[in-house]
Amino acid sequence: MGAEKKWLFTLFSLAFLSLLFFLSSILNFSSTSPHKPFSSTPLHTPTSPPSFAYYISGSHGDADRIFRLLLSIYHPRNMYLLHINAGGSDDERRKLGVLVKSVSVMRAFGNVEVVGKPDPNTYMGSSNIAAILRGGAILLKMDKGWDWFVTLSALDYPLITQDDLSHVFSSVRKDLNFIDHTSDLGWKEGARVLPVVVDPGIYLARRSQIFHATEKRKLPDAFKVFTGSPWVTLSRSFLEFCVLGWDNLPRTLLMYSTNVVLAQEVYFHSVICNSPDFKNNTVNSDLRYMVWDDPPKMDPRFLKTSEYEGMVQSGAAFARQFQTDDAVLDMVDDRILNRGKHRAVPGAWCTGGRSWFSDPCSQWGDINVLKPSRHAKKFENTINNLLVDLKSQSSQCL
Ligand SMILES: *[C@@H]1O[C@H](CO)[C@@H](O)[C@H](O)[C@H]1NC(C)=O
Repeated sequence: MGAEKKWLFTLFSLAFLSLLFFLSSILNFSSTSPHKPFSSTPLHTPTSPPSFAYYISGSHGDADRIFRLLLSIYHPRNMYLLHINAGGSDDERRKLGVLVKSVSVMRAFGNVEVVGKPDPNTYMGSSNIAAILRGGAILLKMDKGWDWFVTLSALDYPLITQDDLSHVFSSVRKDLNFIDHTSDLGWKEGARVLPVVVDPGIYLARRSQIFHATEKRKLPDAFKVFTGSPWVTLSRSFLEFCVLGWDNLPRTLLMYSTNVVLAQEVYFHSVICNSPDFKNNTVNSDLRYMVWDDPPKMDPRFLKTSEYEGMVQSGAAFARQFQTDDAVLDMVDDRILNRGKHRAVPGAWCTGGRSWFSDPCSQWGDINVLKPSRHAKKFENTINNLLVDLKSQSSQCL
């Protein structure tokens, strides 16, 4: 190599290095300086806003709608665990991971995880409860600070912002659980609780339907069976009670639920209402808006734009179920969440400019403040009415 070439090589290397240095310094500058003076770590003091741990589950083909749901309920103070069950592929799980990594605030706070090794999901089987308990256990480990565990499916959507949700929950006792429940089993007694079924998902068989035994069993004497909505909002203390296992009741009921049809509608309901320590902390609501056919089918109706008004008047926090990218979701984004396409819902934490080309949540300030909107009022009324019911114990574990 000639001296001239060596010299050129050195010059280019130097130029390249200084370019890198320059780029990294401006990138660093723009990503850290706007929020340096503010509190950008989640505070969990008695006066800081409550936070939520979301477990979102979906199946094959759900990566995009899980991501959209995630953006619609994202807040840096919350925790998120996304699960594409064994019905979906590893490619879909990877894709979801890449989508999460593409959002700078999610990278910065590291509060979104994707389950890498999926759980089976058998239609109507009890492996769903195992998956939810596992999700809860992971979320308990991920973060010590959150207050409520919320289960959502890929087919759900919020009806209020996280600022509104957290604002309203600021006046809710942290030991309260929101579980729609009844001991009046009705037709479910014969159809769901008395039959003995086996979920092949539990022993990893490649079969997606539950087996029915020919024998039926009687209702148990040792505890009372409760049933209700499969969608729950649990206090951290009650989830710990179910997951950590110092008391036998959650375990006994888990073993019993193994052979129940749709254990997701029985398990938490029966544990809480048979537990002297937790039953008084049960609010009889799932905080969801659903519309059922008459007579009801297995799942509620898909909500359309014609149901928009009923939905927002309901005072619920979430609604289900929706078809992928249905027009009514765009209405919710526009009119309630103020959410742009492929962006998170702008909360008080977002400090970036608001325009079509810049995402307000690409920069952030103090994440421990809220800015409730006028939409919080309806949900606040719902919660206040439920708390009155709770006081009178008129609808609790009966
Ligand atoms: C729950 O409420 C009942 C009825 O008011 C009361 O007798 C009982 O002591 C309460 N349990 C706990 C653990 O506070």
